[in-house]
Amino acid sequence: MQSSVNLEISRRDLLASSAVAVAVTGVARQADAQSAAPSAAHKSHVTFIVNGESSSLDIDNRTSLLDALREHLHLTGTKKGCDHGQCGACTVMVEGRRINSCLTLAIMHDGDAITTIEGLGRPGALHPMQAAFVKHDGFQCGYCTPGQICSSIGVLDEIKANIPSHVTGDLTAPVQLSQMEVRERMSGNICRCGAYSNIVDAISEIGGIKA
Ligand code: FES
Ligand code: FES
Repeated sequence: MQSSVNLEISRRDLLASSAVAVAVTGVARQADAQSAAPSAAHKSHVTFIVNGESSSLDIDNRTSLLDALREHLHLTGTKKGCDHGQCGACTVMVEGRRINSCLTLAIMHDGDAITTIEGLGRPGALHPMQAAFVKHDGFQCGYCTPGQICSSIGVLDEIKANIPSHVTGDLTAPVQLSQMEVRERMSGNICRCGAYSNIVDAISEIGGIKA
């Protein structure tokens, strides 16, 4: 008669085999982490002029400009809302133009001049747009505000440069600043607190639109 296989496993055997499995998994995870860590080949040296000062970084090529500013240069005034180009909280000025810093790689801006909210004004010496936001209550929680203010300055510059928008009527005439133009051009900056009408009032004052 065929002998039956003894399937009984002692508690000690079970613990010993579990310990081996944990050790093997740990080694595998460590190997995964090492292969995911950026090697020198995945890094670049980049230099920006941020708020008038030169800043050099050795960063992973995949780093967004937003993360370079916040995580590497510790300029946390620029906010991360969606990280997908949908909210405008990360708006900064690059070479004088507003840009969603979450949608661009830091290494694409080697040598560029970048202005963040920290470079616009300081307590006691606010940029006129910052002062207008305070005057008109253009914020509640303030999370979107740095992006709103950078974008507002960009909007007025775009109109001065005669760049039309979707609502510009006559493309052959100089672009006129209006509340409709402001609302359209600021539509990429979302405010969950709903301070929109006060934001438009602040921009209108600085742009010289009569209410
Ligand atoms: Fe960049 Fe939302 S964080 S658009
Ligand atoms: Fe709160 Fe705009 S002030 S999100």
